[in-house]
Amino acid sequence: MNILLTGGAGYIGSHTYCELIDKNHNVIILDNFSNSEKTVLKQLELIVKKPVEYIEGDILDFSLLKKTLSKYKVEAVIHFAGLKAVGESVNEPLRYYENNVAGTINLLKALDAAKVYKFVFSSSATVYGTPEYLPIDEEHPLNAINPYGRTKLQIETILKDFSCSNFDMKIAILRYFNPSGAHHSGLIGENPKGVPNNLVPYMMQVANHQLPFLKIYGDNYQTPDGSGIRDYIHVTDLALGHVKALHFLNSTQTPINIFNLGTGKGSSVLEVIQAFNKACGVSIPFKVEGKRDGDVAVCYAKNERAKKVLNWQPVFSLEDMIKSAWKFQQKNKIS
Ligand code: NAD
Ligand code: WQD
Repeated sequence: MNILLTGGAGYIGSHTYCELIDKNHNVIILDNFSNSEKTVLKQLELIVKKPVEYIEGDILDFSLLKKTLSKYKVEAVIHFAGLKAVGESVNEPLRYYENNVAGTINLLKALDAAKVYKFVFSSSATVYGTPEYLPIDEEHPLNAINPYGRTKLQIETILKDFSCSNFDMKIAILRYFNPSGAHHSGLIGENPKGVPNNLVPYMMQVANHQLPFLKIYGDNYQTPDGSGIRDYIHVTDLALGHVKALHFLNSTQTPINIFNLGTGKGSSVLEVIQAFNKACGVSIPFKVEGKRDGDVAVCYAKNERAKKVLNWQPVFSLEDMIKSAWKFQQKNKIS
């Protein structure tokens, strides 16, 4: 299949690229490199052992999208491109709505015009807001609590409406939990610009002595050890979920297909620190601080639907995730 990856140079997109090439798909990346580096493309070439086709461009550029879809005879789009920092979205909501929501509308218009009927969207567990029950299944009420989350929720609504007006369209909405880890080669991984917001990349920089200590945001949650619990999923398992979702769209008649992509198992911040110590032999200095605004105590997925319908199964452990993230950090001497 000829597949366009918007945001394909980013963290999840680049890992998905590798898995799609592995399944012999033709893949083209479109990215504006606002949150990724072009060096990722060279690393991808080392992994897949062939030139990477890419376009430097923006999903807000309608004529570029139209040209790209037609030139590469694109049959399916996986839409990763988006801004994703929760705190930044609170300070710059219009930038988030424009990039994520207007960008997606633009992309859908181009798909409509080019008659591209398969679309996979990167959504997030953030659309569920504060969990009302656990594990979170796909029927859990939706209640995003920050502008970033609301962009994802709005896009989901737009996709549902769009599918009602275009009967050929087959859409997969993938709600990721906490993607972590890196490619087994150590050549690509999570490399956020500036000080990381997320636990694992922050921890890697502490281990690498770029940051002095990890701040644990709260140790008096109603959890066994008092620290927050999340569903960390290896980025390669996540990438393989996209391949399965795309193949599923070839066979389904259902217009909208929503899947949680998580492991179904929660780990606390302290367990992640211990896993790092065990897997890599490095201990992480930490200090307990107050709770971070907007954080919930516990969040993990019910992933039965993806397992059953997509025949997908996450295989990597928390230690695999941590080990691979550390390999990437060391191999690339990220500073
Ligand atoms: P990322 O920032 O590493 O990758 C996104 C890519 O999109 C970047 O390469 C960026 O340069 C590109 N991009 C952004 N806006 C663009 C635009 N207007 N035009 C073209 N390219 C653009 O992020 P990621 O972690 O790989 O996330 C990918 C998607 O998954 C995002 O939509 C994100 O919201 C979603 N998601 C991520 C997580 C996570 O924790 N990483 C969790 C849930 C959902
Ligand atoms: C995990 C746990 C923190 C950093 C975010 C987004 C969500 C999704 C995934 C995109 C929590 C604790 C963290 C630190 C800590 N992204 N923590 N010290 O908040 O679950 O989800 O990324 O869609 O939308 O909100 O992930 O990695 O930031 O936090 O103690 O320095 O680690 O309190 O319990 P989160 P995270």
